[in-house]
Amino acid sequence: MASILAPSLLLLFSIFITFSPTSCLTHHHPLDSLTPSEFTHVKTIVEKSYPAQTLSFQYVGLDEPEKSTLLSWQSKPTTTKSPPPPRRALVVIRLNKQTLELIVDISARSIISTIKVDNQHGYPLLNDEEQSAASELPFKYGPFIQSIKKRGLNISEVVCTTFSVGWFGEAKTKRTTKLNCFYKEGSVNLYVRPVEGITVVIDLDDQKIVEYKDRFVVPVPKAEGTEYQAANQKPPFGPKLNGAPVVSV
Ligand SMILES: *[C@@H]1O[C@H](CO)[C@@H](O)[C@H](O)[C@H]1NC(C)=O
Repeated sequence: MASILAPSLLLLFSIFITFSPTSCLTHHHPLDSLTPSEFTHVKTIVEKSYPAQTLSFQYVGLDEPEKSTLLSWQSKPTTTKSPPPPRRALVVIRLNKQTLELIVDISARSIISTIKVDNQHGYPLLNDEEQSAASELPFKYGPFIQSIKKRGLNISEVVCTTFSVGWFGEAKTKRTTKLNCFYKEGSVNLYVRPVEGITVVIDLDDQKIVEYKDRFVVPVPKAEGTEYQAANQKPPFGPKLNGAPVVSV
């Protein structure tokens, strides 16, 4: 089924955030990254502040303390046990098609500042969930299903993934992404089998196809000879191991 999309296909600039319940509240230094448990707290604090609203997390990271605060804390002798500066997170969310930058005080469990950001040029970064959802849309879209049929391809072997729409000097742009689709049938290397001629543009906020063109049909490159995994190479192309064991990490 085309719904299986490897996370590695998603745009490299997507931010991967893991909300893991693992607890670790001790910090070694005020500049240490947020811990998994702090991510969970931040998520809860933000979601409680906007109940029953559609919100998505686009970025969550440490809001670093001011340098002067840090230096003053550092200059105190460790014996006085002066508390470190408060742990804060910078959070960027999309809420009802609006971008908000929040500062969350983690120990006080509250949002201490909220800035509405003018959403020019599609800011903020795309997140994993919206790209995965966008990649699925063509498979419920009649004209795309027809385009695949017209090419004689098995739609269960087609996968689509997100790419930039590019910027051509527009003063204002929407949060859109372009999909390119590939044929994975018979190959582990799907990027060598593009399904060309089809343009799909998705509005990420509406999760809707806003532009669709099927301009030309060209053959999909064949699958034979596209295996690149070292483990599956035959001599003389496979690695000469001379008895050394291969360890995967
Ligand atoms: C299409 O691909 C699916 C998934 O690999 C497979 O189960 C199915 O048999 C294929 N259909 C045809 C007509 O080849």
